[in-house]
Amino acid sequence: MGKPLKVGIIGCGAIIAQYLTNFRKLQDLELVAVADLDPARAQAVAEQYDGVRAVSVDELLAADDVELVLNLTIPAAHADVALKAIAAGKSVYGEKPLAATTAEARTVLEAARKAGVVVGCAPDTVLGTGIQTARKAIDDGLIGAPISASATMVTPGHERWHPNPDFYYQPGGGPLLDMGPYYVTALVTLLGPVVSVTGAASHTRNERTIGSGPRQGEKVPVAIDSHVTGVLTHASGALSTLFMSFDAVKSKSPNIEIHGEQGSLVVPDPNHFDGEVQLFPLGADAWETLPVSAGYVDSGRGFGIADLASTPEGAEPRAGGTLAFHVLEVMESVLESAHTGTAIRISSTAERPAGVELTVLAGNVRELQAQEAAS
Ligand SMILES: NC(=O)c1ccc[n+]([C@@H]2O[C@H](COP(=O)([O-])OP(=O)(O)OC[C@H]3O[C@@H](n4cnc5c(N)ncnc54)[C@H](O)[C@@H]3O)[C@@H](O)[C@H]2O)c1
Repeated sequence: MGKPLKVGIIGCGAIIAQYLTNFRKLQDLELVAVADLDPARAQAVAEQYDGVRAVSVDELLAADDVELVLNLTIPAAHADVALKAIAAGKSVYGEKPLAATTAEARTVLEAARKAGVVVGCAPDTVLGTGIQTARKAIDDGLIGAPISASATMVTPGHERWHPNPDFYYQPGGGPLLDMGPYYVTALVTLLGPVVSVTGAASHTRNERTIGSGPRQGEKVPVAIDSHVTGVLTHASGALSTLFMSFDAVKSKSPNIEIHGEQGSLVVPDPNHFDGEVQLFPLGADAWETLPVSAGYVDSGRGFGIADLASTPEGAEPRAGGTLAFHVLEVMESVLESAHTGTAIRISSTAERPAGVELTVLAGNVRELQAQEAAS
């Protein structure tokens, strides 16, 4: 094994805790520094993580020992922070979406290409056993030729739990740009790239009320569509239907269903790394649960960076910028279609990243053995 990839994190908010947990498990990654606009947040992280120093954003960008910047800032800052990291000669892996707009995202990919550095982007949930087992089932022909998919994400709003939910209701946020990356990335992973989309969208309230934390009761303005539906036409001819809502209360529909000529598949939540995949073969009389057969076992946020670290030089990482750009263009085009009333052709494309064999990168080998024994 080579030396671990040295990582500096910019943005120490709500999501960093999940990354810190997984950095402790992943031997291919070494966290060396953290920074935030609010120095106290970076300091708090450094105090709980041995060997990590809290620095200013500029210091982190100038640090010789930071090879990759993990960008955990809010969507409106993703492109700006990524461009600064690239200008400092560092590879960058960002939280989703790649940028608030495709115009911004394009400048990031272009700058990285010129600088010869790598761009990676969340979500890496699709590299876990849930989506990867579903993908293997499709690739192994268990449902025959895929015809269609449905993707359903329903929540009455993140302001109910997030202490600073403003960004979810500003451009770059909303149910589609916030949660859509999980669903659209999963759909592209399962069914391949998208060539055109149609969409429709609506907006219920002009304000949302923060439900927890020091700002509880404060209202935040809403500048996005809070309920979005769309139809994606994949290059294969398969059709995916999207239903993404920050307005609806609850759904009993599976997060994702895939239908083929020979069977139907229930795919687990693409915002999680694992979960049961169920198959209903043509002519059967019940759903069957498929054994876990592919993906990173016991994974979590950050495994996409470990995957990037082991990607051969010059090759696109699985959680790579090209895929993230395609996903962003699909989402942006669904909203454009909703506002113009016309179908939109997608100009970008992305290869389905290579499947992940069943792999224990870190964590609990016994859990895998128990799952295998139970199947
Ligand atoms: N919160 C979640 O559950 C969750 C889950 C998955 C992904 N994400 C994604 O992670 C990202 C961050 O979300 P969060 O919930 O942690 O947000 P947050 O608002 O809690 O934290 C963001 C942090 O980034 C800092 N920041 C903002 N702009 C900056 C800049 N230009 N330079 C340096 N620091 C800056 C802020 O001070 C803040 O500490 C978003 O893209 C979000 O979509 C969040």
